[in-house]
Amino acid sequence: MRDDLNDPYDLLVVGSANADLVIGVERRPAAGETVLGSDLSVHPGGKGANQAVAAARLGARTALLARVGDDAHGRLLTEAQRAAGVDTVGVLVGGAPTGVALITVDPSGDNSIVVSPGANARLTPEDVRAAESLFGLARVVSVQLEIPLDTVAEVARALPADARLVLNPSPPAPLPAEVLAACDPLVVNEHEARFILGGTAGPAPEDWARSLLALGPRSVVVTLGAAGALVADSGTDTVVRVPSPRADAVDTTGAGDAFTAALAWRLGRGDDLPVAAAFAVRVGAAAVTRKGAQESFPTAAELGPV
Ligand code: RIB
Repeated sequence: MRDDLNDPYDLLVVGSANADLVIGVERRPAAGETVLGSDLSVHPGGKGANQAVAAARLGARTALLARVGDDAHGRLLTEAQRAAGVDTVGVLVGGAPTGVALITVDPSGDNSIVVSPGANARLTPEDVRAAESLFGLARVVSVQLEIPLDTVAEVARALPADARLVLNPSPPAPLPAEVLAACDPLVVNEHEARFILGGTAGPAPEDWARSLLALGPRSVVVTLGAAGALVADSGTDTVVRVPSPRADAVDTTGAGDAFTAALAWRLGRGDDLPVAAAFAVRVGAAAVTRKGAQESFPTAAELGPV
């Protein structure tokens, strides 16, 4: 927690907040097919809100800039942020219903997600400009792509000179050069790497990391699920592989958000990229062992000695 209103935030997350409507399925339906699933459960989610909770649970002083609807889902999400210790002064209300994610989880723990952005799509560049005081206090700003691309570009412009931008382009979209150039790092999984590289993706993840770096970000992290992550830095021009601890996956929902939040927090504390990624893979691995997104994120104590 921040003791004083002038204390810096370790992490400002600008992004989405969704109510996750989750059904367990034996297998996903094909086109035109109906399958039966488990009882419905409703959890707080959204890539931005997830990152904020994950960081706060690890002990980071965290704020969230997001937009929710004036409805029960919005209240659920805001309350979950507060319960985790996130500063919600930047959570705006109204404009559209709260975003919703329809999620199926199969027995291997893999998920499929369809998002109705709702209020997330109404988080505007003007909202970013109006949150100038939050940006002024942030060491690291983290953003994803469940909010409009114009808003993401405004975040890159609003970044204080001594702050660092962490971008997870999920769901992937073509990125303006000014956004790519501000990323330190750009954090992608295999799908996102292939989307951004298009036909130029080489055969190995190491090739993706080098090709992504050539697009302009200051550094790149490629997450590889159980195989850990690769980090590449334009300063050193090397690609380093960071292994992941073994984990029995129950539900992978939000694990990437937990990874990115942990990475962003540790970078802001001064860790170099391989060290921050080594911590982040432990957080991601812990998150897959429990159901749900925010409910699955570990505390620092649960993670054990660093
Ligand atoms: O990354 C997981 C998240 O993606 C879910 O919580 C869902 O809301 C979607 O945004």
